[in-house]
Amino acid sequence: MNKPVLDVCCGSRMFYFNKFDERVLFCDKRKESHILCDGRVLNINPDVQVCFEPPHLIKVGHRSWLAKKYGQLNKST
Ligand SMILES: C[S@@+](CC[C@H](N)C(=O)[O-])C[C@H]1O[C@@H](n2cnc3c(N)ncnc32)[C@H](O)[C@@H]1O
Repeated sequence: MNKPVLDVCCGSRMFYFNKFDERVLFCDKRKESHILCDGRVLNINPDVQVCFEPPHLIKVGHRSWLAKKYGQLNKST
């Protein structure tokens, strides 16, 4: 099925009314399960386990090797 929504850091899907919404491709770098202090079960169970790493460099020369390798954050775009 075509998934129009990409959630790259879904965690335990807390902000979804429907945690199994078919329109969403759930991704996270973690896949793990925990029992919380009050006994509730917490599942981090993404459809795809990925490491998302967007550009985070701000002060970097436009033509520098750092910008070429990692991209950069630009306030104007
Ligand atoms: C604030 S939680 C997301 C909460 C989620 N929106 C919800 O509704 O429960 C951030 C999530 O990002 C994941 N995360 C952190 N760094 C990541 C990375 N580099 N790539 C993919 N996921 C990452 C963490 O494992 C964590 O589950």
